[in-house]
Amino acid sequence: MALFSSLTPVFVAILCVIIVFLFRNSSSRKIRSKEKTSAVGRVRPWVDEDLQDDTEINSKDNEDEGDWLDTRGEEELHHVSYSPLRYAAAEMLKRSEKFYSLMNLRRSVRFISPEPVPKEVIDNVIRTAGTAPSGAHTEPWTFVVVSDVDLKHKIREIVEEEEEINYKQRMGDNWVHDLKRLRTNWVKEYLDIAPYLILIFKQTYGVLPNGKKKTHYYNEISVSISCGILLAALQNVGLVTVTTTPLNCGPQLRSLLQRPANEKLLMLLPVGYPASDAKVPDLKRKDLNDIMVSM
Ligand SMILES: Cc1cc2nc3c(=O)[nH]c(=O)nc-3n(C[C@H](O)[C@H](O)[C@H](O)COP(=O)(O)O)c2cc1C
Repeated sequence: MALFSSLTPVFVAILCVIIVFLFRNSSSRKIRSKEKTSAVGRVRPWVDEDLQDDTEINSKDNEDEGDWLDTRGEEELHHVSYSPLRYAAAEMLKRSEKFYSLMNLRRSVRFISPEPVPKEVIDNVIRTAGTAPSGAHTEPWTFVVVSDVDLKHKIREIVEEEEEINYKQRMGDNWVHDLKRLRTNWVKEYLDIAPYLILIFKQTYGVLPNGKKKTHYYNEISVSISCGILLAALQNVGLVTVTTTPLNCGPQLRSLLQRPANEKLLMLLPVGYPASDAKVPDLKRKDLNDIMVSM
């Protein structure tokens, strides 16, 4: 009996450790499953953990609340025949080489000329980006095109303020070192100088005219594909840009541009002709053998 009572504190300690262990395991499982299943039980299997980004996890806007559209009663789409252009093999080869040569000239250019660019060209480039495929044809993108001088300057102020913190405090030595090679820093003159800034927002869900919310499957992948097409379209007309993903600026830029809560900033592209003295880092691209596996 004496032995038992002297062991009691040990038993209590072991019991406490087991309880804490079980509790932590169950709450982390709950957090993981919450990412896939919403508060109202909407199962979201397309939100793969690898594909989920911080803006979705940390969003204060509770996307799952509200009235969601139930598409089960919707009519089937009419299907039409499709006959795209078809080229002979030799022509295909020629076109593939030509397009590769064009795209291989694409570079991220951080020195942009203030020379005006016809707005119709930008309209067509955005139209082209809007031809991208999207999860269940939800077209979950908004392209905000800014040419107003004051607005561009406000965007620059927001981005530079956050970027200075990123470089000096947030991101750490490795990040700063990796970017040093590219000679980038937090000063972004091109945000004032470029005739256009295109801010690309992903719509994490849609809002219909009747106020119901609509699921936007794979919205980030869809918008990223659209951005790729946009970059190709810019290259096609001889304009340049630098792909930027302004860290921690999303909410401020969203509110400056008066975009709704379902839109999250994905990319900011300053667009224009390259400056006459523009320089780019002498980067080399991987060979085909390093990026392709044929089986
Ligand atoms: C997702 C993404 C984010 C990027 N963010 C920045 C950025 O914030 N600032 C910047 O100067 N370049 C940025 N870049 C441009 C890359 O540095 C550039 O693409 C890379 O160095 C290769 O150079 P190239 O585009 O000339 O081929 C980004 C590129 C991508 C794809």
